[in-house]
Amino acid sequence: MSTRIIDQAANVFADPSAYADEAKLHAALAHLRANAPVSWVDVPGYRPFWAITKHADVMEIERANTLFTNSPRPVLATMEGDDQQAAIGVKTLIHMDDPEHRAVRAIGADWFRPKAMRALKIRIDELARRYVDQMVAAGPECDFVQEVAVNYPLYVIMSMLGMPESDFPLMLKYTQELFGSDDAEMQRSASLEESMAVLLEMFAYFNDMTASRRATPTEDLASAIANATIDGEPLSDIDTVSYYLIIATAGHDTTSAVISGGLHALIENPDQRERLRANMDLMSLATEEMIRWVTPVKEFMRTARADTTIRGVPIAEGESVLLSYASSNRDEDVFGDPFRFDVGRSPNKHNAFGYGVHFCLGAALARMEVNSFFSELVPRLESIELTGDPEHIATIFVGGLKHLPIRYSLTG
Ligand code: HEM
Repeated sequence: MSTRIIDQAANVFADPSAYADEAKLHAALAHLRANAPVSWVDVPGYRPFWAITKHADVMEIERANTLFTNSPRPVLATMEGDDQQAAIGVKTLIHMDDPEHRAVRAIGADWFRPKAMRALKIRIDELARRYVDQMVAAGPECDFVQEVAVNYPLYVIMSMLGMPESDFPLMLKYTQELFGSDDAEMQRSASLEESMAVLLEMFAYFNDMTASRRATPTEDLASAIANATIDGEPLSDIDTVSYYLIIATAGHDTTSAVISGGLHALIENPDQRERLRANMDLMSLATEEMIRWVTPVKEFMRTARADTTIRGVPIAEGESVLLSYASSNRDEDVFGDPFRFDVGRSPNKHNAFGYGVHFCLGAALARMEVNSFFSELVPRLESIELTGDPEHIATIFVGGLKHLPIRYSLTG
């Protein structure tokens, strides 16, 4: 019988409000890294799991993708949430393992490779300019998250999918309700049934999209997915819809959280803002630092397929491990002065995009969006300050700021 290390600090992983309070969250994570880096969490409402907080352990687990699989529990959810999702049958890339995962991932992969991204750059630079111009028009004050940051990545990903612009607000509402489902302000209602209703409405929307792209293929990503075949067979309806769902949801809340959190960091660190403005060649490093700093995807999970050990702690077959990116990207063993926001940080081995076979499909796109936005904004920024307290979303999975009230002056 193995002894399980239990540390109450690890209960933060099942506490959405902890993620809304960065100081509380990072105090708990730093404590765990130092004292209980592989800690057993057994809290009411959740199936138990191991919380992994050291960068090296997260990487080791991600690398061992046959020993630690994504199925059947790719992210942390309540027991009830797990069961309802399983009942609906959502099966996206994050729910799959090889060889199925590899075949399905290949369908969308070309759309997100650096080569495809280079072709998109002019368009993304244009959009970045459009949203910075909108800031000028809305100025001198705005809630940067709600008025700017949520719209720009949404526009990019929905255009790639091939959705009509008139439906973008609906998609924004759905994804915010889905990811914000632990936050009283963002959720449709507190009940799980209502969260599931959001998912079912999205399914109905996407089913119509599959039918129309199969009837009349176009040049967009939705058509590529709807008309793809594996071993000569098209994807099932549920697999097609799941593909849209992961692209539509993963593709914007994450990036917009980095843009909001990145701007917040530049406001809080005027020396770093000036440094970047004086040397815009730092933008690629600054982009990586913003992604590390915000780490909008807080965790993913894996399940052990055989008895094993992590950092000497026995993990039994069938037990799940939560990979805390929020913690690993502040790991003192990997990042010098991890709580310093440094636009020139190099090396910067963050794992905010995960690692290995599930490495974020949209990483190159996300990097380009963040880079283009700040390349446009920073040189035009004459002054910027907060006009109220920034607020974070309550979540245990994906999120960042939900309000960033600012006053600013930009050149026209
Ligand atoms: C800064 C923004 C983003 C961050 C931090 C982020 C983070 C992540 C992480 C941590 C994973 C899981 C990786 C793993 O298990 O090792 C992931 C997977 C994924 N991301 Fe992103 N992501 C971002 C933006 C995007 C964008 C713009 C897209 C556009 C489509 C996207 C699409 C996906 C997809 C499809 C997967 C599943 C990949 C798979 O399981 O094979 N992400 N992302």
